[in-house]
Amino acid sequence: MTRFLLVTDLDGTLVGDDDALRQLDPFLAATKAHHGSRVVYSTGRSLTLYRELAAERGLPPPDALVTAVGTEIYFDIDAAVADTAWSGQLADGWDRQQVAAAAAGFAGLQAQPATEQRPYKVSYFVAAQAAAQILPGLQTALAARGQRTQLVYSGERHLDILPAGAGKGLAMQYLRRLWGFAAAQTVACGDSGNDIALFGVGQERGIIVGNARPELLRWVRCNADRRLYLARAQHAHGIIEGLRHFGFLGADDGA
Ligand code: GLC
Ligand code: MG
Repeated sequence: MTRFLLVTDLDGTLVGDDDALRQLDPFLAATKAHHGSRVVYSTGRSLTLYRELAAERGLPPPDALVTAVGTEIYFDIDAAVADTAWSGQLADGWDRQQVAAAAAGFAGLQAQPATEQRPYKVSYFVAAQAAAQILPGLQTALAARGQRTQLVYSGERHLDILPAGAGKGLAMQYLRRLWGFAAAQTVACGDSGNDIALFGVGQERGIIVGNARPELLRWVRCNADRRLYLARAQHAHGIIEGLRHFGFLGADDGA
């Protein structure tokens, strides 16, 4: 076993099969204690919805929590204060009111609940067919208002508008550099569109769980790479399979 950084999505990836989660948990606790490995949860949820999920599923606290699709990072979840060094650099080219005004011109976008509207994330519900029609025009409308944004579409339902410098991938690199992990010692796990940034940002290893959504599978087909492992198993079982594949989890490690 070696020291590594695990960055995992929650819904549909770490969370989804409680038995698999119970199998993975002791292994992660052991590698953290004995090797200095670290675990980061990276979710689209706000801190509010993260807390609900963590309580429901009994998730062990991570070493850092990335919420709102890589726009906020928490080292101390109870204190609920996001890392300002990360969030502060997202403001450039981003005016939340301008972003919302550009999106208001598109009738097919339905606003997500207030908890999911964050300083650097504006989120809507939109079905796949409507999204395909709306997204190019929305991108143009945002640029016309001088906004440097990215559109992230996940699970054939969720649309997030984020600053260009945000996202799960860049937040992962920020943390791995902060903690001194090489890309080859870093493994990201995900199942949907907002995880593409984890797999496409650099040379980090990637585990795509067996239940991955169509938008991620389409991306993987076009971006096949030995750094990326498409697991057969689903949810946390897929993470275990991928960790074995990359040699982060040995045959005797008990998971
Ligand atoms: C989570 C968030 C939602 C976001 C989605 C996809 O469900 O609550 O706001 O749109 O993830 O990133
Ligand atoms: Mg997910």
